[in-house]
Amino acid sequence: MNTDNRPAREAYTTASWLDRERASIFQDAWTFVGTTHDFDESGDYRRVQCGSSSIVAVKDKQGELRAFHNLCRHRGVELLDDDSGNTGGSLVCPYHRWTYGLDGRLRGLPNKATCFPDLDRGSLSLKPAAIGQFKDLVFVNPNPDANFDDWITPLAGKEWPHDLFASDVREAVPLIYDLKCDWKVYVENAIDGYHLAYLHENTLGGPTPDQNIWERAGEHLIWYATEDGIRHRLPKKIRDEAGSVGTIESAKTPGYGGVYHLFPSTLIVPTPYGLSVSTLHPASPGKCRMNVRHWVGPWQSKEERIYIQGFDEKSGIISSDNWTKHPLDTGDFQTEDVWICEKVQRGLESPAYQHGPLSKGAGAEDPIRWFHEVLLSKMGP
Ligand code: FES
Ligand SMILES: [Fe+2]
Repeated sequence: MNTDNRPAREAYTTASWLDRERASIFQDAWTFVGTTHDFDESGDYRRVQCGSSSIVAVKDKQGELRAFHNLCRHRGVELLDDDSGNTGGSLVCPYHRWTYGLDGRLRGLPNKATCFPDLDRGSLSLKPAAIGQFKDLVFVNPNPDANFDDWITPLAGKEWPHDLFASDVREAVPLIYDLKCDWKVYVENAIDGYHLAYLHENTLGGPTPDQNIWERAGEHLIWYATEDGIRHRLPKKIRDEAGSVGTIESAKTPGYGGVYHLFPSTLIVPTPYGLSVSTLHPASPGKCRMNVRHWVGPWQSKEERIYIQGFDEKSGIISSDNWTKHPLDTGDFQTEDVWICEKVQRGLESPAYQHGPLSKGAGAEDPIRWFHEVLLSKMGP
């Protein structure tokens, strides 16, 4: 069994690997920050953590989206604390009130004449980050020179799930999951075609590995089911039951791409309820946080998602600590996935752990091999 091309067990369990990953992957990775509709007005912003960098995307006065490191150029204070909001016409540091325009330029600072007589404001603009947009989705990258087109172009000609802003789709309450597993464990599960018919027997009910396929698109992966000899976007069982929950008009075309994994940490998943965009953020060794945005059909209450197993009203966070039922009895395939990923992580923590063989096939565990190939190519020696 050749396991040379797989991340070692330590890649899932140690602080040293996570530090390397933050530097080698996330400091130069495209992370989903929001949709174009999050930026209606000038000053509208969203903040996202990209590895060790806090990045802010903001709409400037000319209507352009810009991205900056959320870092005052004086003593390095984080400028914005909230994940979203409106900054008004400028970004003001709460420490000594240095004030930046929405173009990132340092506009003013208190007592400049006496305290900073020689300071060149032009050299102390906010540090830029890169920003890119694809089909209403906005991504940022801490590396200002990162090339968005290189990353996204492989998806350009592919089928795409429904329009987030179609008239029959609306956004539901966003969810936050605290997961007791490394972010890679969650990705590997999401792209594993081998488990669908087994772990999810009572929810997705398939398809089996010979009835689904993942294909590579640059660094990304796209999943289709092939149960009827045509490509479609959801396992058959859900399609059969779709009548009971409704069908989103703008998403029912056969030939749809189903699940998308955008390297490294964005998962776009059509569900019986609509569409979700999830972003995984490493938190500490063996732990990550998943931010999920949902768009649902008109038959579903926008609030309904918050009744998902493990939701804690006080913190607003979903965690296995709060489960009251066995995950396999919840009827929610995402809860089943969380359960299994946390069990995988506990296995990885055992000194007796060794990689077992991965199944062959694009509808089985080949996608995990492909993910590892891209990941390891970026990790360096
Ligand atoms: S740290 Fe921002 S103004 Fe001093
Ligand atoms: Fe799953």
